[in-house]
Amino acid sequence: MIGPGCRVLMVGGLGAVGTALAREMTGVLGARVAVIGRRPRAAAVPPDLASLVYHQADVTDAAALRGAVDAVAAALGGIDVVLHLARVVDNAPLTAKDRSRAAAVLAVKTAGTRALEAALAGREIRAFVTFSSLAAWFGLAGGADYAAACAAQDALMAAPGPGPGRRLSIAWPQWAYDEELDAGRVAALRTAGLGTIDAARGIALLERALAGSAAALAIVVGRPDVLDGLVERPVATADPLAELSDEALRHYVDTLRALDAAADRPARGDPAPGDPAAVDPAPVDPETAIRAALARHLKVDPARLAPATVFADLGLDSIKALHVAETVAGALGVEVEPVLLVEHPTIATLAAALRERLSPPLREAGE
Ligand SMILES: NC(=O)c1ccc[n+]([C@@H]2O[C@H](COP(=O)([O-])OP(=O)(O)OC[C@H]3O[C@@H](n4cnc5c(N)ncnc54)[C@H](OP(=O)(O)O)[C@@H]3O)[C@@H](O)[C@H]2O)c1
Repeated sequence: MIGPGCRVLMVGGLGAVGTALAREMTGVLGARVAVIGRRPRAAAVPPDLASLVYHQADVTDAAALRGAVDAVAAALGGIDVVLHLARVVDNAPLTAKDRSRAAAVLAVKTAGTRALEAALAGREIRAFVTFSSLAAWFGLAGGADYAAACAAQDALMAAPGPGPGRRLSIAWPQWAYDEELDAGRVAALRTAGLGTIDAARGIALLERALAGSAAALAIVVGRPDVLDGLVERPVATADPLAELSDEALRHYVDTLRALDAAADRPARGDPAPGDPAAVDPAPVDPETAIRAALARHLKVDPARLAPATVFADLGLDSIKALHVAETVAGALGVEVEPVLLVEHPTIATLAAALRERLSPPLREAGE
């Protein structure tokens, strides 16, 4: 669809990803591209994209947006494909945010998508695509509002639109152009078995997605074994209990009771309570595990890490918090949600919280 002569409107389109896509679409694919953004043209359009049609409007300002869309349609003689790329990212722990900051993150993708839809009503658009994020599917530490905004955008696009054109929301993986993408983040992605996506591949996948019928889908770039782990088995929607006869239901309840009773007894071969074999021979102290993870992921000298060290002072951001939490969880064998690093912001307080999660013998060994 996006080939020679195709008229593409990108809304919020001259950020990191939009600029790369505009270069690919105009320079390689021969499409005609127009952009709507908040900044004035001189600040937004790089010299090599000077031939772009550009109009200034805020996507959350419905009247201004309609005016800009009308101007683009007049300049290009119509619009074939619309890409909503606008986003606001303002990552911080949820507890450190006020409503207005979160509202700004949400508005650009929710009110912005609706306003764009309204501005396009009555036009012969072939495809309207919103750029969501994998954050909508898997969450994002520090970016709960952004993840919610993307999920809302996916949901909005799943509803029928006013026109006949194809509607689609794509939850993208990490692009190769994000300004926050540094060598550390690339390495962390690689360790997790994930990769980045570039403009040529992104457009090829966009075309493939448009050829299908899904209203919202996620694209993940990574090793096949990692991808397999991300795919959930389908969940049955009907309540299976509703299908059971009274007799079968009684049998089901009896079976559950028997399983519960069996769970209270030590399984054959399990060490009895108090048996030294029940204790990990080398329990890891939570404080040691936290120091090791911080040293590894934040590249800090462990000697600098006192019990009262505050994670934020070490430059811990949401992504690094994920990695530190994963490493500590692996070392201790307990679940460690990244949010714990926010709720317990020092080495000592986090260690104390994690000790509560350890089985008693391990807890005592760590004290
Ligand atoms: N970067 C990634 O790796 C990644 C991963 C997954 C999904 N995505 C999605 O891909 C899209 C592009 O990402 P990006 O990295 O290029 O983002 P970006 O660099 O942060 O750029 C965002 C753009 O949104 C525009 N914008 C913000 N608020 C606006 C408003 N109210 N009205 C009009 N335009 C507005 C900005 O334009 P002005 O500067 O002119 O205001 C800016 O050009 C986003 O929708 C994002 O959710 C990105």
